[in-house]
Amino acid sequence: TGRVALDIGFVNTAACTSAITYIDGDAGILRYRGYPIDQLAGKASFVEVSYLLIYGELPTADQLAEFDSRLRRHTLLHEDLKQFFRGFPRDAHPMPVLSSAVSALSTFYQDSLDPFDERQVEISTLRLLAKLPTIAAYAYKKSVGQPFLYPDNSLGLTENFLRMTFGFPAEPYEVDPDLAAALDMLFVLHADHEQNCSTSTVRLVGSSQANLFASISAGINALFGPLHGGANQSVLEMLESIQREGGDIPSFVKRVKNKEPGVKLMGFGHRVYKNYDPRAAIVKQTADTVLDKLGGDNELLDLARQLEEIALSDDYFVERKLYPNVDFYTGLIYRAMGFPTRMFTVLFALGRLPGWIAQWREMINDPATKIGRPRQVYTGATERSFVPLSER
Ligand code: CMC
Repeated sequence: TGRVALDIGFVNTAACTSAITYIDGDAGILRYRGYPIDQLAGKASFVEVSYLLIYGELPTADQLAEFDSRLRRHTLLHEDLKQFFRGFPRDAHPMPVLSSAVSALSTFYQDSLDPFDERQVEISTLRLLAKLPTIAAYAYKKSVGQPFLYPDNSLGLTENFLRMTFGFPAEPYEVDPDLAAALDMLFVLHADHEQNCSTSTVRLVGSSQANLFASISAGINALFGPLHGGANQSVLEMLESIQREGGDIPSFVKRVKNKEPGVKLMGFGHRVYKNYDPRAAIVKQTADTVLDKLGGDNELLDLARQLEEIALSDDYFVERKLYPNVDFYTGLIYRAMGFPTRMFTVLFALGRLPGWIAQWREMINDPATKIGRPRQVYTGATERSFVPLSER
């Protein structure tokens, strides 16, 4: 008819059907393939949950062992790809380093770019899942000027990532099992979240039949923004700045409520959750136990707790249904684990990867898929006549 509905930010427009993740924002429910998040977190490993998201069912012990061993065969980066890291400036943020390296994967694996060849999609899936932790660890090593470590395939995905990040070539690195378990659980909490900004980006780019690496690289860039995955970095920076200014929470909250440009309560609010974010509840518990064990910055944790308490009893936040989201406490845990602030969003990307892949594969296999092509409501000039340069 030529008529279009305007829905800025896709607040109530669905762009696909999906059988992967279910969210009920009013009830605070999140399920992967039907399984409630609180039943998966701490019980199923990240590799197991990746399998669930991508293939639709929990793996049997044999299926999991097979999947895990296939992943372990793909952890190495091509030596030429390693050269890329040298080209970035020393102070490069690791997120664009990550997305650039993922984009570059499509130059190294030109044998597996056809989105309609199942075997090729399968090998790209394994390559991505196995190599992203190596790329992430190298992005970190680059930023601190330390040598890269080759993956140790006797280790599982999360342990291997920790070793490549914090280990040194000539020294043995003992992976702390509690730390690895906590990080693995945080990856599970981030593994999918239906049609969020980065996932929609992955689907939109993929809908043009761009390859999986190109689509995931775009998703990583979408995740980088502070309103999305970048929020975990912003939360910590916000807490530190409140701390620097003497811990005056009420005056910070006042600035938020006055809507001072650029001042938001980061880690609060969500497009879909209007009650509580079930991931945040689990993260908050984890923060207590991890920080107790690792001896994190208790002053910042106390500040976060007070900030949460004050916000939750303030009309501004209550009326707008603003609650802590997954990012509110994760940064404190990552910091206690030894990650610099700039790595926080990279950790989010590692966790979200299986969700992006599962959604891309669902999109490509769905006969109803069309190229994503939103319409617009034009507000520019009506027709006018061209004026030659000499007459302007
Ligand atoms: N601090 C202060 N005010 C807020 C906040 C906040 N964090 N979030 C929303 N509001 C206000 C907003 O100003 C608006 O007020 P008003 O009705 O007076 O104009 C009202 O609440 C509704 O907000 P909105 O911007 O229409 O909500 P949205 O659904 O478009 O945005 C959001 C959702 C997550 C982008 C937003 O809440 C936000 O910017 N939060 C801070 C960033 C953040 O923590 N992001 C992580 C999200 S969870 C993990 C992820 O997906 O990456």
